[in-house]
Amino acid sequence: MVTKRPGLSTRAVHGDLVKRSEWAPIADPIYQSSTFTNPIGSSAEVLYTRYGNNPNQIAIAKRLAALEGAEAAVFVASGMGAAALAHLAVLRPGDHLVSSDWIYGGVRRLFRQEFGRLGIEVTFVSPVETRNWKRALRPNTRAIFVETPTNPLMRVLDLEPLATLSKAEGLALIVDSTFASPINFRPLEYGADIVIHSATKYLNGHSDVIAGVVAGTESLVEEVRKLMQVWGQALDPMAAWLIERGMKTLAVRVDRQNATGMAVASWACTQPGFAAVHYPGLPSHPDHVTARRVLAGFGGMIGVELAGGAQAADRFLRSLRLTAHAPSLGGVETLVSEPRFTSHASLTAEERAQAGIPDGFLRFSLGLEDADDIIGDFAHALAQV
Ligand SMILES: Cc1ncc(COP(=O)(O)O)c(C=O)c1O
Repeated sequence: MVTKRPGLSTRAVHGDLVKRSEWAPIADPIYQSSTFTNPIGSSAEVLYTRYGNNPNQIAIAKRLAALEGAEAAVFVASGMGAAALAHLAVLRPGDHLVSSDWIYGGVRRLFRQEFGRLGIEVTFVSPVETRNWKRALRPNTRAIFVETPTNPLMRVLDLEPLATLSKAEGLALIVDSTFASPINFRPLEYGADIVIHSATKYLNGHSDVIAGVVAGTESLVEEVRKLMQVWGQALDPMAAWLIERGMKTLAVRVDRQNATGMAVASWACTQPGFAAVHYPGLPSHPDHVTARRVLAGFGGMIGVELAGGAQAADRFLRSLRLTAHAPSLGGVETLVSEPRFTSHASLTAEERAQAGIPDGFLRFSLGLEDADDIIGDFAHALAQV
């Protein structure tokens, strides 16, 4: 009998679809236990929550692997933990990494401050031209890292030429896919070797957990798991349980955020108070054609530039009534942040302007409120500017 692979929503709700035994709970219990009994004389790995083999940790890893189409996955204590361990699994002292210039500020700090101390060199390149990547390669280059869609300009990268280059040169292609979630984009289908997420964002989706995940082949994930154990990066069972609950609604949340994103962006680009609107669903976005081809939805993240600059942004923020001024993204509540004070605080004003993030830039993470109410909140704030 040929069985059709369950759809993404089904995989989000059920993970890998194991038949339940009689009297089984529909919601898994929390195994809030640091340790477990072992059979006496057994040489099998002991069950210990820091080892990542607690049932709650295993359940979410299987569910995420099923969503990404990966052989395996492992959750860790934060998105930063996932970024660090994914790279440490493939890089050794003396190795060279080529990273996209358009990445989350925390990961940039990790590469700049910490990797040098470990003897790992990092070169940053502007990612849209494949020849930039080729030029940056050295004999000791081992990996390429990109984030897509990017923060906060929502640039959507075409992974296929990068995957071809990586395969030809024997490099690992590592992709941070936090902004898309596996509902909108699955990097492994486009030739990536490793996908990472800050599970703090869409995967959990309720702004109440810090977590990260690395997915890829069984052997790569095993490397990450070993690092997680010795670097003390395991996820707490309660956090794992909350992520499992969050992932069950991932598909409906992201579908709704895609629809709201399109509605809010279409409205925003008609407002003279916004000098620019960055949303891959708009034909004016530089990567609209690529986004249409590779993304299942354009997402719930929007960047805007206030026509009146930093002062206008300040007044706009103070006038919002529904939207909370808070960093982070991917939750059920609409949030707004100013990259110059958050993700891009480590850059100078000139560096930010050069990167296309001038003062007056605001980043919205749209939640699950009615689109009309979100637009109403923004319209009211814009009228006060
Ligand atoms: C794209 C991206 N990657 C990684 C991270 C780091 O995740 P965490 O805060 O869970 O450590 C963030 C956090 O904002 C992010 O936006």
